Amino acid sequence: MSDFNKKIAFVTGGGDGIGRATSVALSACGAKVIVTDINEKMGKQTVDQIKSMGNEASFFKMDVSVETEVKSITEIVVEENKKIDLAINNAGVGGDFESIHKTDLSDWNSTLNINLNGVFLCMKYQIKYMLRNRFGRIVNVSSMAGLKGVGGGASYSASKHGVIGLTKSAAIEYGDHNIRVNSVCPGFIDTKLIQNVPKNVIDFNMKINPMKRIGKTKEVADSILWLLSEKSSFVNGHSISIDGGYGSL
Ligand SMILES: NC(=O)c1ccc[n+]([C@@H]2O[C@H](COP(=O)([O-])OP(=O)(O)OC[C@H]3O[C@@H](n4cnc5c(N)ncnc54)[C@H](O)[C@@H]3O)[C@@H](O)[C@H]2O)c1
Repeated sequence: MSDFNKKIAFVTGGGDGIGRATSVALSACGAKVIVTDINEKMGKQTVDQIKSMGNEASFFKMDVSVETEVKSITEIVVEENKKIDLAINNAGVGGDFESIHKTDLSDWNSTLNINLNGVFLCMKYQIKYMLRNRFGRIVNVSSMAGLKGVGGGASYSASKHGVIGLTKSAAIEYGDHNIRVNSVCPGFIDTKLIQNVPKNVIDFNMKINPMKRIGKTKEVADSILWLLSEKSSFVNGHSISIDGGYGSL
């Protein structure tokens, strides 16, 4: 896949897990990757990995839930690179595992602020510049929890359902401006994020998953790259499940 030569790709949460795998894969296909993350050390490690492969990347510390940071970093990136072609709004947290009647509003808000408001804020500023260039490909990272309820994980599930609604709405608003917006819905993927998920929940999922395993970050990255590429040129507003068939149950 060499679609991405000279493309500028903006990745949130690029310091680890799915965001790192996607950043590395995009750079290997010719994109210059702007790695952003709240965790400076991890984000810089991603950039070092990309550079050690002879590819291009730079790091910016950015919290997706803080509008002033999203606005200023997006402006700096556009000033330096003239454009943003590809955006992968991936930064997210698992939130607290708690029943709804025991959930503090502050914990609820914290999950929604990062997982949903963060995607809104990033798209708000990315799309402004994509409209100027009449080109944009956006993939937002939702979850299988964006398609199903999660007992004990209501804030996470609600935030990820929200990402799908936001994705569909953006696809309708900007489709005729040559900006496509899709999302991915991974099942359990081997990253730090699932370390807080109770073991019995993961074990149960493995038992009933048609492929009897959890996914790899590269498997999600490959689907994201397909959605960003011209191989998916008429796919817009959709959510692709990457879950070994779990969603078919
Ligand atoms: N791992 C899974 O099983 C799974 C399944 C479905 C969806 N997802 C989604 O995939 C995305 C990536 O998660 P992951 O599994 O790679 O987890 P991860 O913890 O490995 O990586 C998440 C990255 O996001 C960064 N981050 C967290 N809060 C941030 C903020 N406010 N601003 C900027 N960066 C922030 C972290 O520092 C980290 O580098 C998330 O949106 C997550 O909800 C993960």
